[in-house]
Order: sequence, then structure tokens, then C-alpha cells
Amino acid sequence: MPAPVIVALDLESAAEANALVERLGAEADHYKVGLQLLAEAGPQVVTSLVRSGKHVFLDLKLHEIPNSVAGAIRAAGKLGVSMVTVHASAGSAVMRAAVASAKPFPQLKVLALTVITSLCDTDLPEIGLPASVEAQVTRLASLAALSGCHGVVASAREAAYLSNLLPKGTLIVCPGIQLAQGTATDQVRVATPQDAAGAGATHIILGRAITAAPDPAASFRAALAAFRDGA
Ligand code: C5P
Repeated sequence: MPAPVIVALDLESAAEANALVERLGAEADHYKVGLQLLAEAGPQVVTSLVRSGKHVFLDLKLHEIPNSVAGAIRAAGKLGVSMVTVHASAGSAVMRAAVASAKPFPQLKVLALTVITSLCDTDLPEIGLPASVEAQVTRLASLAALSGCHGVVASAREAAYLSNLLPKGTLIVCPGIQLAQGTATDQVRVATPQDAAGAGATHIILGRAITAAPDPAASFRAALAAFRDGA
């Protein structure tokens, strides 16, 4: 079983990513590769992680027409990744296309992104939505489950009600995690690993709290211990 703590490799080169992976050691076996590293280093960074036995969450945040999403999911499956993201707000046809395209890759889980954790209630009206993150997350997460997605990405605050709402076994992956309260940067809906685990998160994502820490391995271990404490 891969670790429930996923380390976001939001770094500037494959060399930096490899150095961090090396530093974190065997216990850290779950990494998120996002658009920054993918654009900097290309898909080789993903295949090299997969070849070294790591589980990769390829955070493509797809929001495209169904045919294009299906193609991108197939490409992700061929790279051997185990999680990939699609925006739930792209609609049920897009999510169904993503799930169908992932079928030939048994390890591949399609996660639906609900509302990014840098947004809060007052940000929603400017994009035409009622000012309730909770209502929007509930709506999109339910649609994602109905469309066959294996999991959702949402903040720990939402995990509390999503874990009751969604079918058993649905993955609930929470970014916006800080090791201690009060250290938020651009994250608005933040929580600690304990809070997230207590709320029903199955996985947490930590980026800068580990990658920018003076001792990344110690921060990783602290996050893992705190998550297990809270579960
Ligand atoms: O903030 P942090 O460095 O921990 O971010 C790690 C990952 O979590 C980012 O790659 C991003 O995709 C996700 N995240 C998010 N919403 C935020 C902050 C981070 O989805 N507000």
C-alpha cells in the first residue's frame, strides 16, 4: 500500500525532484507530478519515478472536451501513473470519458477536482457560482461519483461531509495541508494532517511544507505520523 502522504514535486527540474526523492527515502513512495515539473522535465520524470517503484499522481487537472480528456488519460495510463485528475466542473460526459479511458489500466484511479483550495465562498460569485464552497463541492463530488470517478480532490474541511456522502471506498485526497496551523501561504481552506485524517481523508498532499522544509525527511515523517494519529 502506498503511503497516504503524497509529496507534491512542484520543483524546477528533474534533478531537483530526484534529489528530493532520494533524500526522502523508501518510506516516501507516493509523489505528485504537476504541470510545472511536467513542463520543465517532460514525461521522463514520471517514467523514472514509476520505474524506481514510486506511485505517481499525475496532476493534469484536465478540463477539455471528452475526446481530448480520454486521450490524455490514456497517455497517463501508458506512463504507469496511479492517479490522474480531471475537473469535475467539466461535466459528467468528460468524467465518464476519463473513467472509460482509464479502464485498461487497472492501477489508474481517476480523481475529480471539486473546488481548488485557494478559493473561498466570497471568490465564487465572480465566476458565476453561488457563494458556497460547500454547496459547490457537494454538487461536483456527487456528480463525480455518479460518473464513476474513483475519488475526489477536496479540502479537508469538505472531507468531513464528503466521507458520509460518497460511496464507501471513494478516495478523498486533500491538498491544502500545513504541518502546523497558522502557516498558510496562498492556501485558504487549510488543515493539519490530523484534521484531514479525522475528517475522512484517505490521502493528503503536501508540497512546500516538505519540499521547502529545512529537513524534508523529518517533515515527511511528521506528516505521516500525524495523519496516522488522526485516522
Ligand atoms: O501548498 P502546497 O505546496 O502544499 O501545494 C501542494 C499541491 O497541492 C499543489 O501542487 C497544488 O496542486 C495543491 N494545492 C491545491 N490548492 C491550494 C494549494 C495547493 O490544490 N490552494
